[in-house]
Amino acid sequence: MSVQTSMSNADEVLRLIEQASEKNFLPIIGPHKGKILAEEIRKAKPQYVLEVGTLIGYSAILMGKELDDEAEIVTIEIHGDEAELAGKNIVRANIPAKVKIIRGDALQVIPTLMGQFDFDFIDAEKNEYFQYLKLAEVKLRKGAVVFADNAGIFADQMKDYLDYVRHSGKYQSRYIQVGEDGVEISVRL
Ligand SMILES: C[S@@+](CC[C@H](N)C(=O)[O-])C[C@H]1O[C@@H](n2cnc3c(N)ncnc32)[C@H](O)[C@@H]1O
Repeated sequence: MSVQTSMSNADEVLRLIEQASEKNFLPIIGPHKGKILAEEIRKAKPQYVLEVGTLIGYSAILMGKELDDEAEIVTIEIHGDEAELAGKNIVRANIPAKVKIIRGDALQVIPTLMGQFDFDFIDAEKNEYFQYLKLAEVKLRKGAVVFADNAGIFADQMKDYLDYVRHSGKYQSRYIQVGEDGVEISVRL
């Protein structure tokens, strides 16, 4: 017998991951910064999304539930176990958007990707954000949104990245504080 709930599969999987993270911390974007990510996705309506740092699929599900079935998310994860679990969570969440998980080092994978991205969510090694961005930059459409997590608590490790999006003239960039942390949202000019 299945129990009917008003929650979608995606919402249910997101809540379960949040609950798991309360018991054993997981570095997911979480519900507060996640709300901003979902809002940006709803505003941008991207067709092709790049995510750097899948972990177990929380943010991919969060983004994918806002998109339609024409949209695709390519998400890169260096660790096999996490990538595998992400695959299972994404199937359970049953989101409209297609999600392709690539297991590998984003520094090697990004140069091999085809197509032009409308949205780039960066959430892996903090001191590599600038390299992820520079590798993806040629594949970002004009107007593409680059959303970087942890721009508050890890600002020191991301200094080159933050200097670049704020001062290179290639992006219009803003920082949004959320509690002790924050996100940097940069639009490719
Ligand atoms: C903060 S977690 C991602 C959280 C996820 N975006 C979420 O909010 O649910 C960072 C992830 O990036 C992965 N990672 C670290 N360096 C990487 C790299 N060079 N390429 C791909 N993934 C990487 C880690 O294994 C980890 O799973």
